[in-house]
Amino acid sequence: MNPQITVLDAGGQYCHLIARKVRDLGVYAEVAPSETPASELTGRRGVIISGGPASVHDPQSPTIDPALLESGTPILGICYGQQLMAHLLGGRVQKGTHGEYGFAQLDITAQDSIFAGIEGRQQVWMSHFDLVTDPPEGFDVLGSTETCTIAAIASPARRLYAVQFHPEVAHTPCGRTILSNFLFNVCGCERDWNPAGQILAVENQIRAVAAGRNVFFFVSGGVDSTVAYTLCLRALGPDRVHGTYVDTGLMREGETEFVRKNFAALGAGSFAVEDAGAQFLSALRSVTDPEEKRHIIGQQFVEVQQRILESEHFLDGRWILGQGTIYPDTIESGGSAKADLIKTHHNRVAGIQRLIQEGRIVEPLASFYKDEVRAIGRELGIAPELLERHPFPGPGLAIRCLCSNSEGAPERTADGWILPVRSVGVQGDARTYRPVIALPDFPESLDDAAILTNRLSGINRVVVAVWTAALLQDLRIRPATLTAERIQRLRHADGVVRRLTRASGFDNEIWQFPVVLIPVGTEDRPDSIVLRPIDSVDGMTARAVRMPGALLDQITRELREVDGIGAVFYDLTNKPPATIEWE
Ligand code: XMP
Repeated sequence: MNPQITVLDAGGQYCHLIARKVRDLGVYAEVAPSETPASELTGRRGVIISGGPASVHDPQSPTIDPALLESGTPILGICYGQQLMAHLLGGRVQKGTHGEYGFAQLDITAQDSIFAGIEGRQQVWMSHFDLVTDPPEGFDVLGSTETCTIAAIASPARRLYAVQFHPEVAHTPCGRTILSNFLFNVCGCERDWNPAGQILAVENQIRAVAAGRNVFFFVSGGVDSTVAYTLCLRALGPDRVHGTYVDTGLMREGETEFVRKNFAALGAGSFAVEDAGAQFLSALRSVTDPEEKRHIIGQQFVEVQQRILESEHFLDGRWILGQGTIYPDTIESGGSAKADLIKTHHNRVAGIQRLIQEGRIVEPLASFYKDEVRAIGRELGIAPELLERHPFPGPGLAIRCLCSNSEGAPERTADGWILPVRSVGVQGDARTYRPVIALPDFPESLDDAAILTNRLSGINRVVVAVWTAALLQDLRIRPATLTAERIQRLRHADGVVRRLTRASGFDNEIWQFPVVLIPVGTEDRPDSIVLRPIDSVDGMTARAVRMPGALLDQITRELREVDGIGAVFYDLTNKPPATIEWE
């Protein structure tokens, strides 16, 4: 298919999300490197320039072919895309001092077809450091926020538009209308895309990549690998597809039984469970660094995989590996041209990269987003209780069980206690690894937590201490690794939380609910639990959700009884600045 829209990748983690949103509006879009020559983009109805972590003032920063701006093609610049457009056309971009991450109120100050149907004050999502201080000549300012006076600019005569905020994320409610206005009012696009309509094309692609070989799948029981597996079953028939579920010992309560039952129902040709818990645990024994954990888990997967492939004679060139990798998995690992490394996805570690280079991997869902995968799954007739499961990361409980190689005590500040435990975050499209602030009580609104993370540059998360076995200041972080005992403690706590959230129906109101174990506690209760219920559409951005008080009371009451738990915290941080997982 010929794309009507090309999204130029300036290195933003939201780059593919823009393309995804355009497709969601029924218009086929593809992503290309930002420097793609204008001559290769002739025939596009429009071009969108993505955000990115760079500053236009850095010599190495991504740019676009300036000829594009003179080509007459409609262009929409987003975030860094706005700064780049302004910079290239003679406007002024100023280096920011401390950035702006999260919600802002946009005041629309001038009307234009891009804002058709939207007026007044609108909530938007910001994630930027630099800002445009002078628009280029011939541009009108269409909107501003309190901290960003030039939040939207346009030169309608030249069909050039740019916004500082992110219309592509779910947390900019008017974003969909803005994108739709750009596509249909400005570019004159036609509707030509529907993911469930892609099933036959994907099956053809599977047959082409397999080229007569069979596909061996490591399935996780999640939505992605189940849908990918089912597509391979349909494309190649049950005799040519084999699934193995590796029990890493890092799975949740009851998971292995759940997967066994579901794969039996899919009518799979052959399916096996491999118990590798002892091997994973032994490899992770002395590790504390989150990236190292991920690498080791990836390595172990490759080793287990290698062992199984060899023992079953799957290495004779007649077999290739199938994976349920979806778009965001590749983006956040720096899979798009310039995206900063936020963390290494476990489907993208070195061993797997090698198989990709050798052409021995088929990833039928690599260009789809989660909700597109669900739409395909529904079309394939996969059971709703499987499709609607909350996503669960491949490395399992390991990335929800934080480790530490040092001792430390909470540190008092004017706003709360800084816990000496660091978690992964994403700020201005780059990865951070920072401490957490703990508040003694819930703030009046979740917005107060967001304001705090913007104001305190040294932290990336805000939690509330819901219950502590000792005074907050008397809790200690202690050296801790991934032991069977700690994993079991987390599995138990996670089981409690899942049971209660399901029974109360809260489960249906949220997108995901990581339960995290951190090595902060007292002498005989050395760990704490962090509750992290979030709402999201695709995992790219997320909003912390407050659960009903009665449910929180009940969860806390039961968690206090879990052996070794010294406190219960509640994570109030959006993504960005925090990621969903703590790592
Ligand atoms: P973060 O923590 O980056 O997570 O905000 C975004 C979403 O991705 C999930 N996640 C993973 N899923 N393998 C997966 O299959 C992984 O290695 C992995 N890491 C994070 C996470 O649970 C959230 O839904």
